Amino acid sequence: MPLFTTKAILQTAYSSAERFCVPAFNVHNMEYTKAVIAAAEKEQSPVILMLGQPILAFAGLDTLANIAMFAARNTRIPAAVMLDHGSKEEIIDRSMELGLSIMIDGSHYQYDENVEFTRSYTEKAHRLGLSVEAELGALAGSEDGEEEVAARMTDPDMAADFVGKTGIDILAVSIGNVHGLYKGRPNIDVSRFIEIRKRVSVPIVMHGGSDLPSDIVNRLIDEGMSKFNIGTDLKIAFSSALREILSQEPLKFQPFDSLQYAMNKTEETAREKIRMFRASGKSRLYSS
Ligand code: 13P
Repeated sequence: MPLFTTKAILQTAYSSAERFCVPAFNVHNMEYTKAVIAAAEKEQSPVILMLGQPILAFAGLDTLANIAMFAARNTRIPAAVMLDHGSKEEIIDRSMELGLSIMIDGSHYQYDENVEFTRSYTEKAHRLGLSVEAELGALAGSEDGEEEVAARMTDPDMAADFVGKTGIDILAVSIGNVHGLYKGRPNIDVSRFIEIRKRVSVPIVMHGGSDLPSDIVNRLIDEGMSKFNIGTDLKIAFSSALREILSQEPLKFQPFDSLQYAMNKTEETAREKIRMFRASGKSRLYSS
């Protein structure tokens, strides 16, 4: 299938009578990417591969984007590739040159500056036929070792104003979700989500999708959530598997032996998430 934009891949989930969420996974290297694509293929699910800005200092934007785009173009399931939490102009610009969908993170700006920052990139992206996600509010926690931020919940009226002024295709909300593991049971403000959804007519998505119990996920899907971002759950699967295999079999020195084990565990976790998001079998709703 051709590479999907995030807008095109989410539009089906947003408008389908069969309520489901598109799974979006942060990928860090070739092994993660292959594991996520294998999971989506086995579940026949649409999928989004996300390249988080912090990981790019390690992996290199061009390298990781080419790995992810190659994988996404060479699978028969609907797949999109996006820059996640883009705040640095050179990274956003290069991502657009490469043809990635983008997420603009202007949460470090005051509201009016955030509107302007996001609007100008949205205009550029649309001229190139690319899609834009942006977040209003801020999630507590930290992304791949970036500075911890305090939570700021998304205000429903401001969300409508933000979408109207910026022209974004997808809105990420802060409703009690956090990046990383939750301390105790997640306190997700579903009523706030419903209020935002009433006022906004683009797909709404949620970051901090790891470690959420299935009853909360189901409730949010029933109320129309279109995408969950998963980072931490796959990181835990990948690194615990590597730790396990290397300590159990210290004489295994072929990197592909231990990496294959980690990929299998990552794929298993990705499949569990896809099933939880009710996305299994949903690739049939997409035409190429
Ligand atoms: P988690 O690491 O909490 O799953 O969040 C990932 C995320 O939201 C990426 O944008």
